Amino acid sequence: MENLISLVNKLQRACTALGDHGEESALPTLWDSLPAIAVVGGQSSGKSSVLESIVGKDFLPRGSGIVTRRPLVLQLHRIDEGREYAEFMHLPRKRFTDFAAVRKEIQDETDRETGRTKQISPVPIHLSIYSPNVVNLTLVDLPGLTKVAVEGQPDSIVTDIENMVRSYIEKPNCIILAISPANQDLATSDAIKISRDVDPKGERTFGVLTKIDLMDKGTDAVDILEGRSYKLQFPWIGVVNRSQADINKSVDMIAARRREREYFANTPEYKHLAHRMGSEHLGKMLSKHLEQVIKSRIPGIQSLISKTIAELEAELKRLGKPIATDAGGKLYSIVEICRIFDGIYKEHLDGVRSGGEKI
Ligand code: GDP
Ligand code: NA
Ligand code: MG
Repeated sequence: MENLISLVNKLQRACTALGDHGEESALPTLWDSLPAIAVVGGQSSGKSSVLESIVGKDFLPRGSGIVTRRPLVLQLHRIDEGREYAEFMHLPRKRFTDFAAVRKEIQDETDRETGRTKQISPVPIHLSIYSPNVVNLTLVDLPGLTKVAVEGQPDSIVTDIENMVRSYIEKPNCIILAISPANQDLATSDAIKISRDVDPKGERTFGVLTKIDLMDKGTDAVDILEGRSYKLQFPWIGVVNRSQADINKSVDMIAARRREREYFANTPEYKHLAHRMGSEHLGKMLSKHLEQVIKSRIPGIQSLISKTIAELEAELKRLGKPIATDAGGKLYSIVEICRIFDGIYKEHLDGVRSGGEKI
């Protein structure tokens, strides 16, 4: 099963390498058919923190205010052994083993596109992490939804962000991680509002409740976590991320996870829910869900690839090959890559049919 997910990761990377951001692209339908998980919610609801704890690494810019200003498409690749490292698509062949440097590069690359302002940009940053400590997942970190423009932002920023977020989560293949902070009224949750818009039945929305540790004394989140306040198809998952004070003190991820586990296990209100709370549980649930989605989509993806090859070959024929121009070169590489992936899929399916691999 892991092979299957990493195969999808490869496909997705091939699409993006070919300039396919799901918008004006040669292969929009191919990108659209592959699953990804996007994190949505209000500013400072804890989106980047949740992503970090799923990954188990400190590498994302976080903090109060508008920190995430470009979409970050993050692919996690599980490797069997060896030292973990990260790679950016805009810096091919440069391996980052220092994750503080990864965070800095995300910030720098954000600034390169937007200037050192509070502007946002829809142009995604692509980052891959290879590690023995992750499950295979593709995650998208998004700028937070906001209600007002602040100094240095255009008035259109509120709808700009909303439209950008929507463009990711409205795709039927997008699994939505709707992040709501427990210390705010759930009725005002931007995450719930926008995910209900694009996924009214909640078939691909996971509700994540952050900041449970910051709730007012005498209140708790049991009604939400047990699905009585707002019912979602999948059970709510509560998490406790690092506070700003923890970040300032450089509390590491291992310690943070241990503390999160202890928090749920030792808080009387949440003890009975502890087995299905926390970021590790969230990671496992997501991986399981993603596998099911991919499994159900294999035949569809394969026929799409075959169709695309046929279409592209027709296009090449029409243009008369070989083509020396850049545009022609790009078309040709798409054909080649599709052919390679098509071959891998067929091999994979043959393996499945002959019982070689159980899915
Ligand atoms: P984003 O803007 O939604 O990406 O949110 P960030 O992940 O950047 O977090 C915003 C701030 O909230 C940071 O200072 C975090 O340390 C803090 N924070 C996030 N989640 C929690 C949590 O579960 N508990 C506490 N105490 N603080 C949190
Ligand atoms: Na923030
Ligand atoms: Mg963020």
